Amino acid sequence: MHRCAALVLVCSTVAFTLLQSGSAVEQIHITLGDTDSEMRVLWATPSNVTSWVSYGTQRGDRLKRTQRSENLRQGRRYFYRVYAEGSPVSRMYNFTTLPVHKNVSMTYLVYGDLGVRDGTDTFPALQAELAHWNHTAVWHIGDEFLRLIEPVASSLPYMVSPGNHEIAGDFLHYRTRFSTPGTPWPIPKGKMWYSYDIGLVHFISYSTEVYFTYNEEYECSQYYWLLEDLVKANRNRARVPWIVAMGHRPMYCSNADADDCTGWLFGGRVRAGLENLFHTQGVDLIVEAHEHSYERLWPVYNYNVIQTNYVNPRGSVHVISGAAGNQEGNDKFGPYSKAWSAYRHSKPRDNNFGRLHVHNRTHIHWQQVRVKDGHVFDSFWLVQHEHGPFVPNANCTLSVSTHSSCHCPSPFYVLVLTYAAMFMACFAVIAVVAKLCWRWRMRIFGKCYVWGVLGQRPYLVYKTLSSKQIYEEEDATLISADEPSFFVGRAQGIQ
Ligand SMILES: *[C@@H]1O[C@H](CO)[C@@H](O)[C@H](O)[C@H]1NC(C)=O
Ligand SMILES: *[C@@H]1O[C@H](CO)[C@@H](O)[C@H](O)[C@H]1NC(C)=O
Ligand SMILES: *[C@@H]1O[C@H](CO)[C@@H](O)[C@H](O)[C@H]1NC(C)=O
Ligand SMILES: *[C@@H]1O[C@H](CO)[C@@H](O)[C@H](O)[C@H]1NC(C)=O
Ligand SMILES: *[C@@H]1O[C@H](CO)[C@@H](O)[C@H](O)[C@H]1NC(C)=O
Ligand SMILES: *[C@@H]1O[C@H](CO)[C@@H](O)[C@H](O)[C@H]1NC(C)=O
Repeated sequence: MHRCAALVLVCSTVAFTLLQSGSAVEQIHITLGDTDSEMRVLWATPSNVTSWVSYGTQRGDRLKRTQRSENLRQGRRYFYRVYAEGSPVSRMYNFTTLPVHKNVSMTYLVYGDLGVRDGTDTFPALQAELAHWNHTAVWHIGDEFLRLIEPVASSLPYMVSPGNHEIAGDFLHYRTRFSTPGTPWPIPKGKMWYSYDIGLVHFISYSTEVYFTYNEEYECSQYYWLLEDLVKANRNRARVPWIVAMGHRPMYCSNADADDCTGWLFGGRVRAGLENLFHTQGVDLIVEAHEHSYERLWPVYNYNVIQTNYVNPRGSVHVISGAAGNQEGNDKFGPYSKAWSAYRHSKPRDNNFGRLHVHNRTHIHWQQVRVKDGHVFDSFWLVQHEHGPFVPNANCTLSVSTHSSCHCPSPFYVLVLTYAAMFMACFAVIAVVAKLCWRWRMRIFGKCYVWGVLGQRPYLVYKTLSSKQIYEEEDATLISADEPSFFVGRAQGIQ
């Protein structure tokens, strides 16, 4: 039986520092609620005022203020406006709820690492997409700003995964500015992962950041949540055949940097943490970002290529779509030597995003679209007639099971300690070089550059010495001047 859902205004506000700047309601976006007959509307107001949503099924309707319970009908268009005391009312927005029939083709926009500065040409391109495609939702795999994306996010459910740029302030912005299905709001720190069935796909959004915040408790709570979720999803494959997982940092990549996915540090933490589980449970497609480039992999497990086509793969297919436009520029690749890398693309200022087209139970079509001219420069068909775990009989629900994927891998104590030792050794070497360099800099070069270990870009030595400083600089664009502090409101579906 369907749970009775309703759109009800919850006058909840969360305080960031109070800052009066302008007076309009902004950053309006919607996300899926807990059921198909529910949609959540989120917005920000510059000060702590009462705000609410009014909605109706017809443009000309007197829109109803959301105070009494009412189901949203599936597959229908709704119009809405956001009101806040003392502010002009927002313009009229609209969205369409998920269709009643699951067995229909649907498309999604998929990308990560879209930034305010270098993403400027991406926003209009995404908006143009809406006019030509009947997208069902947007999957944004980490790294965020909401004002510019509003035209898209106010009419399509905007589904998110946390990325490294969200770490600042304990993910406060992520947890309050977004809302995710089946999760309280503000999103608790220990539940930044969720899943949702849309049509023929069981979508999973997981947090790769648990592996970078030194908190093994979240590592394992997410792991066991995923395990349970995947076991359930596998029992439901007859109805919902596909499993697509999305997380910010990739498990594999052939970029020329020192990121986790290059595997330079013991084969990568995210890969070590989740690959076995996803492979065993037969996750069909894993979409990732973080690397500011596009890369498509052959079905792979444990660095071994399983096959060099996408017909009935017996391993997960990874796609890294992280070149939507990021202020750090697009990332370069290393030498083309990885057997698992099927296609890759990275050019400066050549932003692109993914279009995920789920045709039916057996066929998914992926297209990677260039922002500049809408050209599809890479595409592939993922064909699966035998949906299910890639390792049968792991039996994770049986207490007798000994399969390694049924247990959260041991935490990264050892890795972290080794990492610390390596870092200190590097630091010592760099410090010595820096000192020598600094002493001679004016005499020799006028300036002192060192090829830093961070991202293989030249940093001034005194910056290289403090990786923390660089991190703060990255985050500054997210939390400072341009993003003043806001109160966040949410109209929430409740039972
Ligand atoms: C906002 O206003 C309400 C009611 O006036 C009050 O209860 C709430 O504490 C305020 N929130 C903040 C963060 O100041
Ligand atoms: C719904 O919203 C979109 C995007 O803002 C707009 O282009 C479209 O015209 C609206 N549809 C209707 C029927 O008003
Ligand atoms: C789904 O639709 C296809 C054709 O559109 C049909 O062949 C198939 O039987 C349907 N499957 C289910 C489970 O309804
Ligand atoms: C989008 O939906 C409309 C109305 O249902 C339909 O006419 C149109 O062909 C669809 N467009 C695409 C690209 O599927
Ligand atoms: C699924 O979609 C593909 C591509 O559109 C098509 O070739 C195939 O016949 C479809 N299968 C079914 C059962 O409709
Ligand atoms: C899972 O259970 C099946 C049937 O009970 C058994 O044949 C298989 O060996 C078990 N697999 C593991 C990994 O325990």
